[in-house]
Amino acid sequence: MSPTERAFQYILTHTIPGDPQHILETFDHWSYHCEYLSNLGPQKGILERLIYEKSPLRVLELGTYCGYATILIAQLLPLGARLYTVEMDDRKAAVAEKVIRLAGFDDDTLIRGPSQEVIPQLKEKYGLSHVDFIFMDHWKRCYLRDLQLLEAHDLLLEGATIVADNIIFPGAPHFMQYVKACGKNNCSVSLTGYSRARIESLSGSPIGRRK
Ligand SMILES: C[S@@+](CC[C@H](N)C(=O)[O-])C[C@H]1O[C@@H](n2cnc3c(N)ncnc32)[C@H](O)[C@@H]1O
Repeated sequence: MSPTERAFQYILTHTIPGDPQHILETFDHWSYHCEYLSNLGPQKGILERLIYEKSPLRVLELGTYCGYATILIAQLLPLGARLYTVEMDDRKAAVAEKVIRLAGFDDDTLIRGPSQEVIPQLKEKYGLSHVDFIFMDHWKRCYLRDLQLLEAHDLLLEGATIVADNIIFPGAPHFMQYVKACGKNNCSVSLTGYSRARIESLSGSPIGRRK
């Protein structure tokens, strides 16, 4: 069994189905006390705050893993919002689909495939005309390419918020350079208080093209 499958077995027997908050707490418990999972974990505060502040209507998560951040985001979204999350690893995606369903959300939230193939299909195949909030949490080397793909396919709403994990350590220097240059006067980078700066948020960057 893979780590995500082991985690899911634990979740299934220890959580309250239909209660996203309890599912997140059960994941946290497993990750702290049994086996480490590379999901968002204790750094979730920034993401929660930004979702709450921005109330986005079209959200894209790149890198689902076991669906932890997906249900964290989904439970905070306003009515009528749509969330898609993209995962390229089939075994992780299979677990995440079950987690998302267990939490009471639509499992068609998850799109299987590598982000570079999924992003160009978002409009035609998934009816997503634009996104106003993106959580980048897949491989760091894909951040810049995927941001440029989103721009090339005219998917970013003006003023879209981009939250990118781990951009200082281990780092995504080309991505950072690009975003700062695009944002010019209006790009803000805020760091968490964590020593390894696990989450950085880049918000208010006017990289989107359309209102
Ligand atoms: C750090 S984990 C994501 C954690 C998740 N966002 C959370 O907080 O619960 C990174 C995930 O990104 C996936 N991934 C990496 N590169 C990808 C790509 N180009 N397209 C889709 N998924 C990708 C990996 O398979 C892995 O499951």
